[in-house]
Amino acid sequence: MTEVPPGGVPARRIAGARPHPGEPPGRAARPGGSLAFGADYNPEQWSPEVWREDLRLMGEAGVTMVTVAVFSWALLEPAPGRYDFEWLAAVLDGLHEAGIAVDLATGTASPPPWFSRAHPETLPVTEDGARLWPGGRQAWCPSSPVYRRAATALASALARRFGDHPALVLWHVGNEYGCHNAHCYCDTSAAAFRAWLRARYGDLDALNDAWGTAFWSQRYGDWEEVLPPRAAPAFRNPTQRLDFRRFSCDELLDCYRAERDALRAITPDVPITTNFMVQQFARNVDYWRWAGEVDIVTNDHYMHAADPDAHIELAFSADVVRGLAGGAPWLLMEHATSAVNWQPRNLAKRPGELLRNSLAHVARGSDGAMFFQWRASRAGAEKYHSALVPHAGTDTKVWRDVVKLGTALQRLAPVAGSRVVADVALVFDWESWWTVEADARPSVDVGYLDQVHALYRALWRAGVTVDVVPPEADLRERRVVVVPALHMVSDDAAARVHDVVAAGGSALITFLSGIVDPNDHIRLGGYPGAFRDLLGVRVEEFFPLPAGRTVRLDDGATASVWTELLHLRGAQAVACYRDGPLPGVPAITRNTFGDGTGWYVATRLDDDGTQRLVELVLAQAGVSPAMAVPRGVEVVRRVGDDAVYVFVINHTDAAVEVPARGMELLRDVPLDDALTVPAGEVAVIREPGGRGGDGR
Ligand code: GLA
Repeated sequence: MTEVPPGGVPARRIAGARPHPGEPPGRAARPGGSLAFGADYNPEQWSPEVWREDLRLMGEAGVTMVTVAVFSWALLEPAPGRYDFEWLAAVLDGLHEAGIAVDLATGTASPPPWFSRAHPETLPVTEDGARLWPGGRQAWCPSSPVYRRAATALASALARRFGDHPALVLWHVGNEYGCHNAHCYCDTSAAAFRAWLRARYGDLDALNDAWGTAFWSQRYGDWEEVLPPRAAPAFRNPTQRLDFRRFSCDELLDCYRAERDALRAITPDVPITTNFMVQQFARNVDYWRWAGEVDIVTNDHYMHAADPDAHIELAFSADVVRGLAGGAPWLLMEHATSAVNWQPRNLAKRPGELLRNSLAHVARGSDGAMFFQWRASRAGAEKYHSALVPHAGTDTKVWRDVVKLGTALQRLAPVAGSRVVADVALVFDWESWWTVEADARPSVDVGYLDQVHALYRALWRAGVTVDVVPPEADLRERRVVVVPALHMVSDDAAARVHDVVAAGGSALITFLSGIVDPNDHIRLGGYPGAFRDLLGVRVEEFFPLPAGRTVRLDDGATASVWTELLHLRGAQAVACYRDGPLPGVPAITRNTFGDGTGWYVATRLDDDGTQRLVELVLAQAGVSPAMAVPRGVEVVRRVGDDAVYVFVINHTDAAVEVPARGMELLRDVPLDDALTVPAGEVAVIREPGGRGGDGR
C-alpha cells in the first residue's frame, strides 16, 4: 500500500516529476508543494517532430504533468499478447527530460479491433438485446472475464516495463468507467448478476421479499429464472432495476480493482487513480462506493453550455468531489479550455471563463487543473473538441489563456494541500437519484438533480460554502444540514439527521425525502416516512401539479410541480398555499425537535422563494456568508498550515471591492485593507492564519 492520506496523494508527488536517485528533482518537486497543470496527451496521433514541438510548448505553458496512453491499447498490444512499448518509452523519456511528470494510463478503456473480433462475446448488449459493435469506444461488457484478463495483463505488462520510470508519478486505470457501457444485459452479465444477488440475499425467499415479487406474479422458484431487467412489455420490477444498477456499479468497480491490484503488486509505492465523472449528466456510477478505492480522487468536469448557471453546477460538482475525497485535496483530471464537441451547440468559452472555471475547481479543493486534451486532434470523433494547443496554433486566445493559467497555477503553489472550510452540509445520494427518477412515479416533472441544484444554488448565492456528504455521514458537528429529495433512506441515515437536529442543528428537508427503505419499499403510515416525527408533519396524499401549472403561497412565493395534502403534527406552518388544489394547506413548515429545528418544504418553490427560505434557515441557525459580497461573486476559503487562501471569483459584469489584508497571489501585490476584483476576474488572497494560526 502506498502511504497516502485516505483519498489523497501529497501534492508534491503528483504535481511534478518524481525525484529519481541521482537526478535533480523535477521542476514541480520544489518544497512547498505545487499544483498540477497539464492534460491528456495523445502523441500517438502525431509524428515525432510534433512531439518535440509539444515538449517545447509544454515548457512555455508551465505544464507539470500529462496523462499518457488513455486510448493506446491498439498500439501497445498490436496483436494478442504482443506488446510494443518502445514508442511509449520514447515519449516518457522525452517528458522526463523536459521535467514533466506522467500520469500513466493503463490504456484499457477501449480494446483494439482484433480483441473484439476474437472475442465477440465481450461486446455489450443493450436492454432490448442489441449487441453494440466496436467502432466507437468502451465496447466491452463489465462482467466479461475475457476483458478483465486482457486488461489486467496489459496493466501488469506496463507496470513491469515502466514501474521504475522516473517520470511516473501516478497510475490512471481505464478511463471514466461506465461512461458508455455502464449496463450490459448479456448472458454473461445475467450469470454475474445472479451471483451478486446470491451473495446479497443468500436465498430466493429473501430476494422475493426484497423485490416484492408477490406483485404481478413475479415470484421466483429457481435462481435460473432471475434475469437482468431486460426490456419488458410493462414496467419492470423497481427493486430488480435498483439492484441491477448497484450490481453494474460494482462490476465496473471490480474491473478497476483487478487492474489496480495488479499494478499495486508490481509498483507498491506509485499512487493509483481512475477519473470519476461527477457532473450533471453522469448518474450511473455511485461514487460513494468507489471513493475509498483510489489513492487520490480525480474528476472530469465539463460545462453545460445550455445551463445559464453552469458555474454554480461546477461549484456543486467540485463540492461533491471534495466530499468523495473526505475533505482532502483532489485533482481535476479533465476539463475543457473552450468548447466541447458532444453537446447540441458547443459554445466557446467567453473571455476569462477558462481561468474562472479552473480556479473555481482549485478553490474547492483541487490541487491542480488538468484538461482534455493537450493538442486538438485533426481526425476522429473529437476533432472539434477544444484543447490546450488549438488547430489554429499558438497565436490564439486559447493558447494565451493557457499560458496565463499556467502562470496563475505556479503562483498558487502554496495553496497545495490546504483544505476547504465549509459551513453547511448537503446530503447527496446516487440511490435516491436512481429511485426518484424511476418509472411509474407520481410526476415526471420531479427531477432529483433539479431539487439538489435548486437548494445548492440558493446556498451558493447566499455565499456559504457547502460540504456534500453521503447519507450515512456523521453530521453531529453541523449547524445546518440540507436534505433534498432523499427519497431512499436507511434507518441509520435517517437517525443521523435526527441526531444533528436533536443536538441543536437545523435540517432543511424537501418533499419526496424519507419515502422508501433501501429495498425501495414505501415506509408506511404517511409521508415523509422516515422524517415524519422529526418534521412534525404527516402527509396523507401527493397532489402533483399539471405540467406548467404554478400555485401561489401566502408569503408571496410561487411554486410548481408538486403539492401535498399535509397535516401539522406539532410543526408550525411557515407558509400555506393560497390557491391550487390545496388552498390553506401548509407548504413550508418548521418543527422543534430536541434542541434543534426541522424545516420541511412540500413543494417546488421558485428561485426567489427558495432563496428566501434558505436565507431564513441560515440566519436562524446563525450561519453567515464567508464574506459580504454582491450576488454572483463566489468566495471560498482554503485553510493551510500557516495561511488562509481566500478565492474571490467575480462572475459579474462589475468590479467588486472586498476587504483584504495579506497578499494577492495572482498579481503578487501586498494588501492592507481592500482589493478591487475587476469584472470577470479572479483574486486569491493569502491571509495570515491557518490551522497553526488564528485563521479559523
Ligand atoms: C471525457 C473523456 C475524454 C474525452 C472528453 C471529451 O472526459 O475522458 O477522453 O472524450 O470526455 O469531453
